[in-house]
Amino acid sequence: MNNQAASMQAVPAEANAPLVEVRELHRVFDLSKRWLNRVLEGSGKVVLTAVDGVDMTIRRGETYALVGESGSGKSTIAKMVVGLLPPTSGTVHINGVDIWGERGARQRQMRRKIQMIFQDPFASLNPRWRVGSIVAEPIKAFGLIADAHDRQARVGELLSLVGLDPLDAGKFPHEFSGGQRQRIAIARALASEPEFIVCDEPTSALDVSVQAQVLNLLRDLQERLGLTYLFISHNLAVVRHMATRVGVLYLGRLVEEAPSRELFSEPKHPYTRMLLDAVPDIGMEGVEREPIAGEIPNPVNPPPGCHFNPRCPHVMEHCRTTVPPLCEVNQANVLCHLYEGGALARPYGI
Ligand SMILES: Nc1ncnc2c1ncn2[C@@H]1O[C@H](COP(=O)(O)OP(=O)(O)O)[C@@H](O)[C@H]1O
Ligand SMILES: [Mg+2]
Repeated sequence: MNNQAASMQAVPAEANAPLVEVRELHRVFDLSKRWLNRVLEGSGKVVLTAVDGVDMTIRRGETYALVGESGSGKSTIAKMVVGLLPPTSGTVHINGVDIWGERGARQRQMRRKIQMIFQDPFASLNPRWRVGSIVAEPIKAFGLIADAHDRQARVGELLSLVGLDPLDAGKFPHEFSGGQRQRIAIARALASEPEFIVCDEPTSALDVSVQAQVLNLLRDLQERLGLTYLFISHNLAVVRHMATRVGVLYLGRLVEEAPSRELFSEPKHPYTRMLLDAVPDIGMEGVEREPIAGEIPNPVNPPPGCHFNPRCPHVMEHCRTTVPPLCEVNQANVLCHLYEGGALARPYGI
């Protein structure tokens, strides 16, 4: 048996099993004024549906990228998946544990396995704490290493892992650049030995050159530690080299979901096409691209039927009244009337 076959055999049977299963996830925000004001002013209840029936399955070792314009509900989904914000309805299972349904030891054990990295590393790091204390905090909170010396050694190890110097433990966050601060945030996330990390726009606040370094680091860590990512971005170009699967979100609904290669080579939903047309190709800087037409509508009062209908170049009469069914086209799931019945695999006439 050659080495490759041996190493393939060594992969545990559950390697490709689903780690995260999100079903029918909804989140509604009540934006109404207080009851008394409503009565006095005669105004009604105002609700905003930020997440509207999202289903996602993320397999072990996969990077599932969630893409959508600002306000489409990405961060709301992230917070519900990691356990920071309760869903209005729907379920999130991670490793078989219902993170909103179960209490006690099993849930606590699971929480340790889930971490989140935020967009703004400065806001998410306590400015008055030294880096060493910031990174050690999850180790203490979960009671992972009792001995202070061993803990310090582990912090040094984590800092090296993210490309920083173990001596950086003695400094404060303001002494670092944006990219280095994001590395500190990643070291802190790794401190609890997670299996699953939600990265919410982890590089959006960084310069382009630094973005690539942080993305490479995340990929490298995934390979070395066998991590699973939910990677959130408003920018398809950023997820192109990260994702194994991509979900495209529009006003709280997943309108297309497909393996990354298929989504980029054969985008199906008119909205995905529009997003891709706006992505600059590498090496084509300066070439005018089609900007995304129209604006994302007000989520308090979304268009009926298909939410995308006012911006869609292929809009039909029933798109304005009826929510599209989820259609399976090749390996993609597409929420669009154009693909109803599976008959129209290529609606663009090319
Ligand atoms: N705590 C909240 N209260 C009221 N509305 C909210 C709250 N959080 C998010 N929203 C609204 O929900 C929608 C989705 O927001 P968000 O998930 O932050 O989108 P994204 O991360 O894709 O930019 C937006 O219209 C936003 O204004
Ligand atoms: Mg967001």
